[in-house]
Amino acid sequence: MKKNIIFFEVKGGSDKGADGYRKDTMPMVNALKERGWNAEVIFFDVGKKDEIYEYVKNNADGYVSRINPGNLKEENEYFEVLRKLCNDGVVGMPHPDAMIGYGAKDALTKLNDTPLVPTDTYAYYDIETFKKTFPKTLSKGQRVLKQNRGSTGEGIWRVQLIDENYNGAELPLNTKIKCTEAKDNHTEIRELGEFMDFCEQYIVGDNGMLVDMTFLPRIVEGEIRLLMLYDKPVNVVHKKPAEGGDNFSATLFSGAKYRYDDPSEWKELVDSFLSQLPQVRKKLGDYDLPLIWTADFILDRDEKGNDKYVLGEINCSCVGFTSQLELAGNVADEIINIVNRAKK
Ligand SMILES: Nc1ncnc2c1ncn2[C@@H]1O[C@H](COP(=O)(O)OP(=O)(O)O)[C@@H](O)[C@H]1O
Ligand SMILES: [Mg+2]
Repeated sequence: MKKNIIFFEVKGGSDKGADGYRKDTMPMVNALKERGWNAEVIFFDVGKKDEIYEYVKNNADGYVSRINPGNLKEENEYFEVLRKLCNDGVVGMPHPDAMIGYGAKDALTKLNDTPLVPTDTYAYYDIETFKKTFPKTLSKGQRVLKQNRGSTGEGIWRVQLIDENYNGAELPLNTKIKCTEAKDNHTEIRELGEFMDFCEQYIVGDNGMLVDMTFLPRIVEGEIRLLMLYDKPVNVVHKKPAEGGDNFSATLFSGAKYRYDDPSEWKELVDSFLSQLPQVRKKLGDYDLPLIWTADFILDRDEKGNDKYVLGEINCSCVGFTSQLELAGNVADEIINIVNRAKK
């Protein structure tokens, strides 16, 4: 064991502190050093990828990925380096395919046979299937269409029929619809056919897809984010959308109100999610759990009218804890545990 951990970052981007690093990176580096380990930060640069690969392979037990894919043009080359490192026995926190498996919006459709996600949740990877299927799902009730890229509510659309009397019949392309985007809760009246043409942009290109999910009206009560440190919930953020109109967005930019709770205040959700974690892990590719990740939930009701929590999305490629830097020690302990377990 080399007792050395690499933190991957990328230069630039709005998530950096005055020292050029993400604000929660040096606290983790220092906490590892306090525990007798070494840690280094490497800025990923595609021009130096072979050099970086050799260095990390020869000098580190594991890496922690701290790169927001939105800040990296060469995402696939970065993932390729990480994949090679993992194959060589470097412990990936997380493995690149775990980042993709947990973080992509179609994690929802991989879980739609579990109690976490409604069965009638679909992913479209080609335009034809989208245009054939969406008019049918929409005719049964309000939907949310989610693009895969971004994480700011952009390209996340609440779609409702203006005339509600279709009862499952296939909708004509000139059906009038009301579309609200989660980025800023603005609403547009459009025609179904034209709107589906507009949505083609979300399907084309690398990792393009659209997820089609039932609209959960209890979003007005808030979205509940579990911040997970490996297998432990360490914090809960309750995000209540701005009131009024068709507002449904839990993003700060759209005016949602955030409140920070202790996980013990959300015992039912926490217990239920933890009991399903082994299954979630298996269905998302059977990689080790991410080091730091979040799972977002929206309230719904089961057949008996009892509260039920529906999973809305998982994030795991660039989750930070800048507002709670006191967690750095716990994170360092978790890193050491993960590496020790993997290297046994
Ligand atoms: N099925 C749904 N029903 C109601 N609101 C939803 C649903 N899915 C997402 N939302 C709302 O849209 C917002 C953005 O969607 P999300 O899946 O979190 O995408 P992003 O990656 O942009 O954060 C959520 O924070 C939530 O407020
Ligand atoms: Mg979100």
